[in-house]
Amino acid sequence: MYLIKKNFLHFKENKITDQSVFLNRRKVILGAMGSIFAANFSNLYANNNNNNYNKVIKRNLTSFENISKYNNFFEFGTTKQIWKQAQKLKIENWKIEISGSNISDKNVFLEDILQKVGIEERVYKFRCVEAWSMVVPWNGFPLSKLIKILDPKSDTKYVEFETFFRPNEANNQKQSWYPWPYKEIITINEAMHPLSFIATGVYGKPLPKQNGAPIRLVLPWKYGFKSIKSIVKINFTNTKTKSFWETIAPKEYGFWANVNPNVPHRRWSQEYEKDIDTGNKYPTLLFNGYSEWVSSLYANVKSKSIFY
Ligand code: MTE
Repeated sequence: MYLIKKNFLHFKENKITDQSVFLNRRKVILGAMGSIFAANFSNLYANNNNNNYNKVIKRNLTSFENISKYNNFFEFGTTKQIWKQAQKLKIENWKIEISGSNISDKNVFLEDILQKVGIEERVYKFRCVEAWSMVVPWNGFPLSKLIKILDPKSDTKYVEFETFFRPNEANNQKQSWYPWPYKEIITINEAMHPLSFIATGVYGKPLPKQNGAPIRLVLPWKYGFKSIKSIVKINFTNTKTKSFWETIAPKEYGFWANVNPNVPHRRWSQEYEKDIDTGNKYPTLLFNGYSEWVSSLYANVKSKSIFY
């Protein structure tokens, strides 16, 4: 494959926040992936079609420091401080196994996908079920673009995603009482919604490993656990299966997990959220503020609650 040999750091940095402090320390991922990012990031701003969604954002962007140092990635540990452990993850030549699709290849390489989709920036609010939140300038592409390339079978009702299972790189996967690998599942309608996003970067740079490099899901109107990291499998299916968290605690982490201030978690209120940068408390918004775009997804859903 032809790769443009250019260090992506030579491109203009994100204009919003000064990254110099972090850049000095950060070990940059170069090689094939970085080169493709370089090629794609050159039109980052030209491609930004996110302005309409931005009206939801009434807070400052969360610092890169906090986005990349306060994480949930249970494969590497159960605390928020797993960024060092996550550096063990090998992300070169990343491939994703595809099933339930009409394409003949069972494995697709991320590099090949990136050649076909344009990279854009999406600034999204990100709300964890644990009642903290942040505002993240993701880089990536709409999930619908990937789904169109992967051409699901016509009877597809759900899209399942799976994270790697590599206990030698991710130490906590040696804990066998977790139902590894991490899995998530959403409806095909949710997956095709224009807000559903695949992130491959943040702040104009490749996604740090601790944030789910090299490819993760971002569903801004749902609690953060639905936004599965480091995806290695995508399955198009007509059967609803259980996610990682639904298997562990079905009454606490359900299938829909749409953000709602009036539906408390079984152990705490969801009325407010804490910004991880400032510590300021904000009222939680229905669908995390994205109702205008996503509430129609649930108009015909016959479920007791679309918020568990
Ligand atoms: N994906 C995997 N594979 N493993 C995880 O532990 N944690 C989820 C989600 N995706 C998780 C995951 C949870 S609970 C949250 S809140 C977000 O990732 C955190 O994303 P961040 O660390 O980039 O903020």
